[in-house]
Parts: sequence; C-alpha cells; structure tokens
Amino acid sequence: MARLADLTNFKAAVCASAGNLGQALAYSGHRRGIATTVVAGSAANPTKLERIRALGATVCIADGDIEDARDLARRIAEREGAFLLEDSENLDTCVGAGTIGIELVEGTSPVDAVLMALGGGAMATGIGYVFKCLAPQAEIVGVQPKGAPAMALSWRARSVVATDRADTIADGVAGRFPIPAVLEDLLLVADDVALVEEASIVEGMRLLYRHAGLIVEPSAALGVAAMLENRSRYRGRRVVTIICGSNVVPADFERWVR
Ligand SMILES: Cc1ncc(COP(=O)(O)O)c(C=O)c1O
Repeated sequence: MARLADLTNFKAAVCASAGNLGQALAYSGHRRGIATTVVAGSAANPTKLERIRALGATVCIADGDIEDARDLARRIAEREGAFLLEDSENLDTCVGAGTIGIELVEGTSPVDAVLMALGGGAMATGIGYVFKCLAPQAEIVGVQPKGAPAMALSWRARSVVATDRADTIADGVAGRFPIPAVLEDLLLVADDVALVEEASIVEGMRLLYRHAGLIVEPSAALGVAAMLENRSRYRGRRVVTIICGSNVVPADFERWVR
C-alpha cells in the first residue's frame, strides 16, 4: 500500500470517509495541489461534507453506507490512477493518531487507562502502540457502539467478524468490515474492548457539554459512555479519553443533548 509520502507522485487522491478523514485528505491534497475526491455514504453527516467541499475536495456519494463508499473509492482509485488512502490500513493514518499518544505520555502524569473510540482502528492502534512502547502500565480500551460492533466482536473472537448493518448515531465509527491487518495490530495493543448503548453516548455528550462546555460528536463521547456504563471499574483511577471530534449537525446536537 502506498504511503502518504508518495502522495506528491500522484495527480489525484481519493478516500472513503464518514467525514473526518475526508477533511484531513482534502486539506492535505489542497495544500499540495492534488485533486482530491472524498467518497461518503448516502446518509453521511452534511456538516462534514460541507467542510470537505470548503477545503477544496470533490464529494462523491456512494449508494449505501461507509463500506459501499470504501468500495467505490477503490474503484475510483483504480480507474483514475489516484492515490488511495484507506483509513486504518494505511499506516500513516495510525501513525498520525499515534502522535496523540506521544503527547499524552509526555504531557501528563502516568495514566491508568486510555479509552478510545474504535472504528476502523487507526486511532486505537496508533495510540495503543505508543502506550505499549512507552507507558505499558496503562490499560488500552477501545470503545464501540453496540449498534456498530464489528471491530469489537472481531477483537473478542480474535478473527474478523463482519456485520450486516450498522445502526448508531456515532457515524465516525460505523464500519462493518474490519480490515484483517488492523485487527492483528489491535490484538497486540488493546487490553479490552467495550460496547456501549446509544443512550450512554448521548449522556456522554450531555455531560461533556454541561460540565466542560464542549460540543462533541457522538463518536467523541464513546469513552465517557464506557465510563458511565462501568463506573466502579474506573472510579478513583486516572483515566484518559480522547475527545476526537466535534463535527455534529447543530440540529442533531440540540435534539440529542438538550
Ligand atoms: C469522530 C471520530 N472518532 C473516532 C474515530 C476513530 O476511528 P478509527 O478507529 O477509524 O481511527 C473517527 C474516525 O474517523 C472519527 O471520525
């Protein structure tokens, strides 16, 4: 698989995204003068799509969900000879997330547990790897919604489990087909995975808003949701969670949180 360093050898780049990776590639492609296409599922968050367009990329909508978008992105890359950025499979996406781990290890006193949103796995494997190397005492926990559990089920089964559908408000982590190589990495770095209810995700968003003044998207509240569902496990421990996105449609936020 091509590395991001090769991007400058291409005239065009493409990725599938629920919206956040797409913004990153749009920004990066624009700065390098590379035409960028982001493929999203038909129910993708319109706020994220607007931001991708504003960053200069073309948005293409696949008929279906993020897995159909991944399919279409692969076909576009093949047809157009474009650079294909596959979230979590392209190691650079994991390394980028790993820089958060370095900041945490260097910038805070030792932590007991790190709770991370788990979708394709880039964030959990990147940050998890850094902790396993530099601060192995910390427990590494990936958190998925019960409505989109493919990677968590795969981690528990130690082999890829695909699901038929994903049904969650946490659009950033709603994949159905885990990538085998990413699962292998996750098995090396994660100590546990948690599956949380939609109501806990909303409660996590509400708490972050009321107590920290933060407007976050559902995926970013997964760690708080896991703590709410298992208070005794985390009480009294130094726990970190990554507040990893705030791209939420304002009307959705109002409806969920108020
Ligand atoms: C808001 C948000 N949280 C978390 C993630 C983590 O997902 P992954 O496991 O694919 O790194 C993503 C991925 O795009 C995201 O958009």
